Formats: sequence, C-alpha cells, structure tokens
Amino acid sequence: MKRIAEQIGLKALRRVDPEQAHGLALKALQSGLAVAPGTITSARLATNVAGLDLPNPVGLAAGFDKNAEALVGLSKSGFGFVEVGAATPRPQDGNPKPRLFRLREDKAAINRFGFNNQGMEAIGARLAKRPRDMVLGLNLGANKDSEDRAADFAKVLAHCGAHVDFATVNVSSPNTEKLRDLQGKAALGALLGGVMEVRAGLAKPIPVFLKIAPDLTADEIAEIAEVALESGVQGVITTNTTLSREGLQSAHKGEMGGLSGAPLFEASTRVLAQMSKLTEGKLPLIGVGGISTPEQAYAKICAGASAVQLYTALVYGGLSLAGDIARGLDKLLAADGHANVADAVGSKRGDWL
Ligand code: FNR
Repeated sequence: MKRIAEQIGLKALRRVDPEQAHGLALKALQSGLAVAPGTITSARLATNVAGLDLPNPVGLAAGFDKNAEALVGLSKSGFGFVEVGAATPRPQDGNPKPRLFRLREDKAAINRFGFNNQGMEAIGARLAKRPRDMVLGLNLGANKDSEDRAADFAKVLAHCGAHVDFATVNVSSPNTEKLRDLQGKAALGALLGGVMEVRAGLAKPIPVFLKIAPDLTADEIAEIAEVALESGVQGVITTNTTLSREGLQSAHKGEMGGLSGAPLFEASTRVLAQMSKLTEGKLPLIGVGGISTPEQAYAKICAGASAVQLYTALVYGGLSLAGDIARGLDKLLAADGHANVADAVGSKRGDWL
C-alpha cells in the first residue's frame, strides 16, 4: 500500500519545485508516511566496515537529511547505514534559490546548495536523541565565511562526535568556493591531523572517513591515498558530485553546481577502483555516485567498495529503492557464489582501471 502511495507521491512531487519536493519527502519520513521495511539483512548482506556492523552495505549518502530531522523514519527505511549533514559550526543559509535542479532525461540532478544547514548546535541536539537501532554518521562541513575552514571540521566533530557512529570529512563539495583546495597534500594532511586529534579525545573514538571528489587526476588521487593512509583515517568515500557536464541532454545541464546521479556512475567508479588499488585493502572504501540498481551497487563492490551509498536515484525511484537494492544485491552475490559482501570486494577491480 505504501508503495502505491509512493508512486503517486513521486508523480505529484515531480510537478513541484525540486527543493520544495525534497522538503515534502522529508516531512513524509518524519510523519511515518514513507516506505518503512525496517532492517533488511541476511548472512550474506551483513558486513563490518571500519568496525561498524552494518545489516546491509547500502547506505544513504549525505545531503538528503542535512539537519538530522528525519532520523526515526530513516532508521526504518531499509538502509544499512545513514549519513546526515553536512553540518557546519554555525548555521548558514547556503546559496540563493533556485539551487537544486532535476535533469529528468539524464536521471541526474545538479545542486549548488552550499552547505545550507542549521549548524552543529541544533543538529547535535537532534543527534543526541537519535534512535539507537541504526548506524548513523555525520557529514562534517566548513562555514563559507570561516576564518579557519580546516578547524571547522574538527569543531563539528568535537561537538557532535559522541552522538554518531562515524563522521565524514567532506572536502569535496564543489559548492563552497575553494573548499576542494583542501584536498591538496599539505592542506589535507594538516586538516586530517586536527580532526584525528579530536577523534582521539572522544570517549569512544568513532571511525572517520574522508570523502573525495570525482574530478581528480591520477596524481591527485595518489597523493590523497598517501595522506589518507598517513593520517590514519578509517576509510575513504568515493565520490562526491562532479563538475563535468559530459553527455547531458536535459534543459538544466548548464546550471552551476555539482552533478549527481546516473552520469556520475562511471567516473566515480573509476576513482573508486584507483583508490582501491592504491590502498590495497588497508582502508575500506565506500562507493557512491550514480547507483540506482542492485547491479550498480554490486559493480561498485566488485570495483573495490566495502559498502555503497546513494541519493539522487531516490528522487526518481523513491525510498523503497533502499530495500530493493539490498535484496537484489543479496541475489547477485549468491549467483556469483559469494558467501558475503566482503568476499566480493574488489573482485573485478581490473575492469575499471
Ligand atoms: C549532495 N551530496 C553531499 N555530499 C556531502 O558530502 N555533503 C553534503 O552536504 C551533500 N549535499 C548534497 C545535496 C544534494 C541535493 C545532492 C544531490 C548531493 C553528495 C552526495 O552525498 C553524493 O556523494 C552524490 O550525490 C553522488 O551520489 P548519487 O546522488 O549519484 O547517488
């Protein structure tokens, strides 16, 4: 019944401005109207990533619930783990509207939100009251007008770290000018040093992941791999949205911002495979970018991901995709004779190099 309602809801939402539609989807989740299959797991799907026990490896990517407002609904949505945020130290409005565009013909989206969020105080208060029966992470960001952006990541972790199971250093959003410069070797080393110091001071040091952009040269990826290994982060999330506009059809293809969804799949999977080769199993990787089917989730795992995340496909397929992808992935693993997710990780990496 909720699935039929979901299809009707999706159709209706398509006629609404994309940012408003997103707000309505969050409201549906808050009020228990969304698809809620509960925990989806099996012996094959259950997996451990950086010490986190995931019921299944299909996660919700950052940016969907920026202010951690729909945690109860999300805990029942079928995702194996959920990342909320980005949270910055101080609240900020983000860029002027419109700043989210649907690219229907391309099964994609362009956003230039620019870290609009209610800030770490408000978000931290919600995280403190979170449901316990979910694996929950927080995406860390920096204020646009900060005097020390690198320090912002550590500040948010210090404030919210006690309430989440993992945190992600996001230096890869294209919508805060010069943020991605923090991906350079020296800057990134210093930034991660500060974050890892705060992590060590937490009562329970949670895993810290680094999230990178897809628009990096082979040399840049190699440098990031080196810094990630040296700094002691617990994993890398590949990737954020892209600045590329290759092969797009939709009217909005010229909008500024980060492109996500189907056109990002190949590029982000290639970066994932390169990162997998460079880190050789020393760091778990989370593959994100353009996943909308179980086959694509499986392809990322075979390219080197220990878990995956998605966001944009939900705009077109609804929240029931979480469960559909997890269940489909179970079948694909079985068909190839894999006893569990870990067994398949990197098994076809060479196809992407
Ligand atoms: C994002 N993404 C994102 N990433 C991040 O690290 N912090 C953030 O705050 C956001 N915000 C955000 C807003 C919107 C509207 C979109 C579409 C995306 C990026 C997201 O987590 C993911 O990395 C990319 O969207 C690629 O995955 P999909 O969407 O192709 O599955």
